Amino acid sequence: MLAGKKILLGITGGIAAYKTPLLIRELIKAGAEVQVVMSRAAQQFVTPLTLATLSRREVITEMFPDASANASHRWTQHIDLALWADVMFIAPATAHTIAKITHGFADDMLTTLVLALRCPLALAPTMDVDMFLNRTTQMNIDALKGTGCFVIDPDEGELASGLAGPGRLPETDKLLAFIDDILEKVHQDLTGKHVLVTAGPTQEPIDPVRYIGNRSSGKMGFAVAAAASLRGAQATLISGPVALKTPRNVHRIDVRTAREMQAATLARFEKADVVIMTAAVADYAVVNPAHEKIKREQQSGNELTLTLTKNPDILKSLGEKKTHQILVGFALETHNGVAYAQEKLQRKNLDVIVLNNPNEEGAGFNTDTNIVSILTPDGKVEQLPRKSKFDVANMILDRVKMKLTWSV
Ligand code: C5P
Repeated sequence: MLAGKKILLGITGGIAAYKTPLLIRELIKAGAEVQVVMSRAAQQFVTPLTLATLSRREVITEMFPDASANASHRWTQHIDLALWADVMFIAPATAHTIAKITHGFADDMLTTLVLALRCPLALAPTMDVDMFLNRTTQMNIDALKGTGCFVIDPDEGELASGLAGPGRLPETDKLLAFIDDILEKVHQDLTGKHVLVTAGPTQEPIDPVRYIGNRSSGKMGFAVAAAASLRGAQATLISGPVALKTPRNVHRIDVRTAREMQAATLARFEKADVVIMTAAVADYAVVNPAHEKIKREQQSGNELTLTLTKNPDILKSLGEKKTHQILVGFALETHNGVAYAQEKLQRKNLDVIVLNNPNEEGAGFNTDTNIVSILTPDGKVEQLPRKSKFDVANMILDRVKMKLTWSV
């Protein structure tokens, strides 16, 4: 995958920066174009001259063009480069740079580029063991992963400080395989397609402070939207209330109730090429939710009766309306899964249904992995092993892609 690919290599100030000349040499050997961007601290460990020689390009170290010199780059270089790249890889990525990226700082060329990227961002966190295991660093890494950033774990072993543990920059061939794998996952095969995704639970109000909801975390839908966007699609994510960060380059619309989700989805259905409904939509809503908080003291007896009314089945109504759209539903079943899912596929007029069983270890709500089967109208049932939700998302998109029509 590396041949002909454009790689922005960000280098920040850790001792492992001394290994990057080798990485550049191997990337160039594999046929990639490499544009190096260095933080100021990185230049203490390896010189721009070395890296420029190996990458055969001027190394970028400054944000602003030097007006007095005959500078070849323009003020908008950060935008040009961000659009140019197929992937940006930061290695080594220090705790400081990771923190800056997590919080959207743009105080040098490297972090500014990160904000302007449309391509995937990948990091190799590399630092001393205590800095790596520090809770703040770990929280930042988790937050970045949650926005669709790819992270390669550091190797464990002896560190420059004399301490031992995780923190080493992985060997060059491991780094090459990591980048290759990302390029494979995010090749721009959905460019021009609009993918609409629903995610998370819905909340049906009982009164101004209480609601009926469920334990959906939204992770599966967010992974689908992130994967679609990384593959070049225009991704819109209609999400119920969840505690997740919006993946990069995804347009997010927040809703609360099933009816709000239905309105938001219907309004965008016509323009969509693919609709993937991962949301755990509440089946019932409370009739006439109270305008004021329901007080315990004001209720007579020990019981409170709520009258519920069936919510619209959003997916079913889309199945009745669909013209060119590829429609994907999810089914969460605890028994007779395949039979129920097949029945749902027919009844809701779907092109694909993804079945998962929340009782299996490593599947269902709030996990980072999922165990699913993918069913299609031809009766095919593909059982997948346990995979990350991001990988499951890509496998669903692979199936969807085969069904899309492409105008030449
Ligand atoms: O019928 P069931 O709720 O099991 O179907 C699940 C699928 O239907 C999911 O894709 C879910 O997002 C969608 N659904 C919906 N509207 C509902 C209930 C479920 O769109 N009211």
